Amino acid sequence: MKNRKLLMIPGPIEFTPEVMRAMGMPTASHVAPNFVEAFGQALERLREVFLCPSGQPFVVAGSGSLAMDMAAANLVEPGDKALVVNTGYFGDRFAAILTRYGAEVTQVRAPAIGDAPPLDEVEAALAEAQFKVMTITHVDTSTAVAADVQGLSALGQRYGTLVVVDGVCSVAGEEMRQEEWGIDLALTASQKAIGVPPGLALVVAGPRAMDVYHQRKTPVLNYYADWTQWLPIMKAYEERRPSYYGTPPVNLIWALNVSLGQILKEGMEARFARHGWLSDALKAGITALGLTQVPVGADRTATTLTAPYYPEGVDATMLKHVGEAGVILAGGLHPEIKAKYFRIGHMGAVSPSDILTTIGAVEHGLAQAGYDFEFGAGLAAAQRVLD
Ligand SMILES: Cc1ncc(COP(=O)(O)O)c(C=O)c1O
Repeated sequence: MKNRKLLMIPGPIEFTPEVMRAMGMPTASHVAPNFVEAFGQALERLREVFLCPSGQPFVVAGSGSLAMDMAAANLVEPGDKALVVNTGYFGDRFAAILTRYGAEVTQVRAPAIGDAPPLDEVEAALAEAQFKVMTITHVDTSTAVAADVQGLSALGQRYGTLVVVDGVCSVAGEEMRQEEWGIDLALTASQKAIGVPPGLALVVAGPRAMDVYHQRKTPVLNYYADWTQWLPIMKAYEERRPSYYGTPPVNLIWALNVSLGQILKEGMEARFARHGWLSDALKAGITALGLTQVPVGADRTATTLTAPYYPEGVDATMLKHVGEAGVILAGGLHPEIKAKYFRIGHMGAVSPSDILTTIGAVEHGLAQAGYDFEFGAGLAAAQRVLD
């Protein structure tokens, strides 16, 4: 019997064998021709995956929080006004980062956990002051709420505000069209739908964001994240010239190039559709088991993860039983409801059989926890959507 568990958390996710092989290759010098070629190609491919042909990509060793830090550090100067559209834990984090760089931060919060701020409230805030940037968490990993990025970005453009999207839990899974939707900067990390082990901060900045950066009057207040250092490096590798500022994580960048190649081979439209289909199947299974979810409505729900509440009488010990059945899930993250719900990540290379295995394991966990339900109902509902 195979003795391995299926990892279904919202990152790190499971990676393809080809990506893992790239991770295991003998590490080359960061100036070796095969590395320079792969880095250059990865930068080109990032534009295609973010759907931002005129964007400037940045690939730097670090996690998603560094990508957020990089966005704030390079775009904000002390005293600038920033608007945070807050749908949970990671909205709070963006507000904290922006504040650290001296921004005056205003937050528009969701009316309730699991909801998103209505567009008219965001518009009212935008109309009240000249905000230099507005940040949006595309999918808040603490709530599984997907913000209306397209609608919010249109508002940002109308009010002359730079639109920054935290796409850590969305890029390459959830539909996001950076250029078409008017997103000035989108960011993510390698370990989620991009499909590469943790360790890369990924940013694509559009022309308006780069202009704002070039027109800064004060130095960037973060030494490591400063585009003054990284922009020449990115340009050099794209022109297939080796360059150095901080040693690039060679194997991670090889793996990134492999994964981006796989994503583009699938095609962005097919990829968005697959994430939607598998998410629908999983959510149908969860609903058929009588579990409700944190997002308040289907139009607010992410396709990259699902956040079900435990049913009455069940708590986080259920996840141990799910683990016994071979699937690893994540507990709650939002501080106010942490003990009341759990999270299932389903992004990247996830397949229909992963969805069925997960629902089967959830059924096992619920049964072990003493919850009364029709055994197999979740599997049947998921299977109906998959078929
Ligand atoms: C939406 C979102 N933003 C930012 C982050 C921070 O990324 P990292 O943990 O890689 O620093 C995460 C991590 O899960 C996330 O889900």
